[in-house]
Amino acid sequence: MSKILIGSDHGGFKLKTSIIEHLREQGYEVQDFGCFDEKSCDYPVIAKEVANSVLQTNGRGILVCGTGIGMSIAANRFDGIRASLCGDTFSARMTRMHNDSNILCLGERVTGTGLALDIVDIWLRTEFEGGRHLNRINMI
Ligand code: RB5
Repeated sequence: MSKILIGSDHGGFKLKTSIIEHLREQGYEVQDFGCFDEKSCDYPVIAKEVANSVLQTNGRGILVCGTGIGMSIAANRFDGIRASLCGDTFSARMTRMHNDSNILCLGERVTGTGLALDIVDIWLRTEFEGGRHLNRINMI
């Protein structure tokens, strides 16, 4: 997986911009679904676009808003999306290993940029363990 689908509202715009730069420096292709400035906008619209694209491509997405909560609520309304709001690296690792998380949600107003970039790196590099965890995912 070398293409990352990403979106934010105005509350997550600055952190999204830092994440895009960080990922491109590492050679990832990044598709940015907006927003494209800090003008007030609606997070459910962006969450829907990224969620649909993750489902269509069987890809991985990142959504950022002020808290990460609105984005995670909105993205998890889509069947097949497992969006995980993470504010620490342990959760980022575990949600890949056990939940096969396909969207990472972050809160710009909650999590500092340095920690957020570490969370992104760990979330992208950690593999799903499968096995009993796959059975559980299939129950959702
Ligand atoms: C926008 O002010 C803010 O409500 C939004 O970014 C997000 O935190 C919602 O959950």
